[in-house]
Amino acid sequence: MLAPQTPALEPPDRLLLGPGPSDVHPRVLRAMNSPLVGHLDPAFLAIMNEVQDLLRYTFRTGNRWTIPVSGTGSAAMEAAFANLVEPGDRVLVPSNGYFGDRMDSMARRAGGEVVRVAAPWGRPLDPEDVRTALEAHRPAVFAFVHAETSTGVLQPDVSALTSMAHEAGALVIADAVTSLGGVELEVDAWKLDVVYSGAQKCLSCPPGASPLTLTDGAFERIRRRREPARSWYLDIGLLEGYWGNERSYHHTAPISNIYALREALRLVAEEGIEERWRRHRRVAGALKSGLTAMGLVMLADDAWWLPSLNAVRVPEGVDAKRVTTRLLTEHGIEIAGGLGDLTGRIFRIGCMGHACRPGNVLRVLATLGAVLRSEGAAVDVAAALAAAAKALD
Ligand SMILES: Cc1ncc(COP(=O)(O)O)c(C=O)c1O
Repeated sequence: MLAPQTPALEPPDRLLLGPGPSDVHPRVLRAMNSPLVGHLDPAFLAIMNEVQDLLRYTFRTGNRWTIPVSGTGSAAMEAAFANLVEPGDRVLVPSNGYFGDRMDSMARRAGGEVVRVAAPWGRPLDPEDVRTALEAHRPAVFAFVHAETSTGVLQPDVSALTSMAHEAGALVIADAVTSLGGVELEVDAWKLDVVYSGAQKCLSCPPGASPLTLTDGAFERIRRRREPARSWYLDIGLLEGYWGNERSYHHTAPISNIYALREALRLVAEEGIEERWRRHRRVAGALKSGLTAMGLVMLADDAWWLPSLNAVRVPEGVDAKRVTTRLLTEHGIEIAGGLGDLTGRIFRIGCMGHACRPGNVLRVLATLGAVLRSEGAAVDVAAALAAAAKALD
């Protein structure tokens, strides 16, 4: 067989303003280039401790059990469900977005009996509906998506949801993939039992090591499982050997991803987590003002707007796929279309981490506006830029 004649790697220059990955900070890329050490080298064990401390700061938690899971956000998600859910357990999951559906699949694979809280895509869960579902089904686990990337909806009233779940005897799993490091998230104050996230959204880090935190109570419940978790790789009882006091081999940690995550989290700590939340609100707020002034309509109501992911309706008669393709190929800007029933009906514009900067907002508004106009939509690009500039001022 002839050896493939593969050219040198030259990824195109892109501005990543989609639902993730987001643009990575140059310091994170440099950290990723550092020479490898072994995953049991004392120098790496010290790095692991540092990453755990930085993750606790970012999650706003004192949870001892706070680690990066090897793999993308779905790996941390699967770690949560595979360990918390035992065969026969009832699991209450949301139906207001794409990632609630993924929770459903993962809970079923873990042997859970899934029940749903109904809510339309584009709206958060109504606490009263959650209460009714908790009382009707008495689940062992209640899971919800804090920041729904498919619809740009931020779940309000998190403390109310956790306290009603706890009263009903359920542990709470929260998906914070698109909120950690960008949108207010208080793991301890909101009494969340298990929270997972991803690296490639508001942390602006390449995907591959995904934050997970759980309380001692959740860990105890995992320790008392009737049968082992159905995943060997993600079994928290086994991972305890590596991330706990023993520091013994379970699997080879993705060293370069851990370096990258450490640097990304150092950037969070330098900026300050609350300042980072404020920046996302301010800069993404300017994007929202610009989109609205352009004549577009946001999918989510202001009361549950998610700064890190702005879902905006596609104007009548416009082919969404053509617009996102033209933005990418003619202007080097990545934004996304909708998923599921929202395919062709919304654009999803991320404003995450390092990409969440004023210049990027002005650039995407000008470019999206120009492309929409040339596709026949009656949008006011000048008004969009003026509104965004005013909001940023
Ligand atoms: C809310 C949410 N949950 C889970 C995931 C899964 O993460 P990953 O694609 O990194 O596996 C995503 C990814 O977009 C997400 O947005």
